[in-house]
Amino acid sequence: MCGIVTAVATRNVVPVLLEGLRKLEYRGYDSVGLAVLAGGELVRQRSCGRVAELAARTEAQGLAAPTGIAHTRWATHGVPSERNAHPHISGGLAVVHNGIIENFETLKVALQARGYTFVSDTDSEVIAHLIHDKLGGGAAGLLEAVRLATLELVGAFAIGVIAVSEPDCVVVARRGVPLLLGLGEDGVYAASAASALFQVTDKLVFLEEDDLAELRRDAYRVVRPDGAAVERPVQISSLTADAVELGRFRHYMQKEIFEQPQALADTLGVVAGGVGISPRHFGAQAEEVFSGVRSVLILACGTSYHAGLVARYWLEAVAKLPCTVEIASEYRYRKSVADPDTLVVAVSQSGETADTLAALKYAQTLGMTRTLAICNVAESAVVREAKLRFITRAGPEIGVASTKAFTTQLAAFALLTLALARLRGALDAEAEARHLAALRHLPIAVQKVLDLEPQIERWAEHFATREHALFLGRGQHWPIAMEGALKLKEISYIHAEAYAAGELKHGPLALVDRKMPVIAVSPNDELLEKLKSNLQVVHARGGELYVFADAGSEIPEGDGVHIMQLPENYGLLSPILHVVPLQLLSYHVALVRGTDVDKPRNLAKSVTVE
Ligand code: G6P
Repeated sequence: MCGIVTAVATRNVVPVLLEGLRKLEYRGYDSVGLAVLAGGELVRQRSCGRVAELAARTEAQGLAAPTGIAHTRWATHGVPSERNAHPHISGGLAVVHNGIIENFETLKVALQARGYTFVSDTDSEVIAHLIHDKLGGGAAGLLEAVRLATLELVGAFAIGVIAVSEPDCVVVARRGVPLLLGLGEDGVYAASAASALFQVTDKLVFLEEDDLAELRRDAYRVVRPDGAAVERPVQISSLTADAVELGRFRHYMQKEIFEQPQALADTLGVVAGGVGISPRHFGAQAEEVFSGVRSVLILACGTSYHAGLVARYWLEAVAKLPCTVEIASEYRYRKSVADPDTLVVAVSQSGETADTLAALKYAQTLGMTRTLAICNVAESAVVREAKLRFITRAGPEIGVASTKAFTTQLAAFALLTLALARLRGALDAEAEARHLAALRHLPIAVQKVLDLEPQIERWAEHFATREHALFLGRGQHWPIAMEGALKLKEISYIHAEAYAAGELKHGPLALVDRKMPVIAVSPNDELLEKLKSNLQVVHARGGELYVFADAGSEIPEGDGVHIMQLPENYGLLSPILHVVPLQLLSYHVALVRGTDVDKPRNLAKSVTVE
């Protein structure tokens, strides 16, 4: 998804802008660009390649300047091309934009009538011309021109603007898309995410909805849409730039898969030592919000949605609470029946996913005010919107395909299930102690699964030449099969489908032949015998089976049946172990196929538009 970085400082900001863009690369993008004010002139560079290419061009040009704006673009309106890349220029001003302008066509017609010529196919170009028009129309300065322009914009935006008329200033504004300021020693910066700014500062100011800000080297001011000044708190971030270095790994995805034991230990730190299950892990008001809850509604997208699907099995079986899980983009537009005694749980790695945020807000408008965010980013929009919060401690996740965020979300859901079960009298002391022991041992259990990597690498060779794959699972491992299929699709571009194994006979069996690898998630649980029968059916049709089994599953290896044994059956928490080999499998298949593992084509890490 698009990202922006801006800088106004006493130093040359070109390296800062480029490094900021590098840190935003993980969000996914298809073109890049920057514009600076150098010696009173506006200079722009854009590229349809990677940030490295833009850096090479600016270096060759010897570009240096104290004021600038930069952008990674993920195409929405207009194909990825240099012409459509940001910044967009109108006269002496340049604009970068993250978001979507919904009324751009109306604005474009009006601006064309006033003599403006459009050179790109983007919605963003209207912003540049609109601000230019306001400046020419007598607006008192750049901030005022941007303010007047944003009043006419419908849609979502985070923008950064520079103009030759005010060479020591950057103006930024946001609505519906995140943007934060960084207060450095030698300048004031802004970016879509804090990780882009850690190179210069850990002092952050999070802009609120509809805020505008005027940034200067040694000062900044924030104003509201009516022009009134407003103060926003300065926060010192606890994250560090080191948290996103690659270290000994080839890709962020691989690093993040291997960070799971630590991420789980950090997330489960709330029940470390002698601390037991408590609603307080979810916030001071949690006991009050949880009591009287009659059902749970989970809202999420992508991988986070799969975490919700697993949690449904837990909440119903252990906490005895009816639970529904909805894809946020569907729920937000569906006429549903609201129950004020429903606990609404929004799950999101980034906390900025537009659909999840909108679904949460929509649930609130329906009168459901018992809300909880499970999220990996404490300062995110979803967390700020919900009454309760549980912050997973996965650390920054850079790879577009989510891994450690997913398993820590599951850990959070396990704690939620147990807290609700306890509150409802559905959990005796012995069961609680058993679950707590399993949770505390989880990082070690996951570490043992990671040791399977060499075997998985060998399997990956078999898959690399295939174009389709089928994933099967049953019960709480069906969503794990779905997550395995999603991972394979995302990064290796192999078409993969997941089915509840019992559904095989109702259609997908027609696809099974010698060319179709079938991956089965086969824990040693009460559904194993049923699953074995499903696998027999596949084998009998000549399908090639790859089975992730637990010790003691007793599925014989043989012609067309490959078995990989996980160390131990892990009961309720087994999905957390079983997803790990599927993550590793897709990673290694992608490696063999030579795809861009951390930044798969067409995908974005943080989907901040609808
Ligand atoms: C994008 C990412 C996925 C992620 C989904 C939801 O599609 O590529 O990895 O699962 O968004 O993101 P969230 O931040 O809300 O968990």
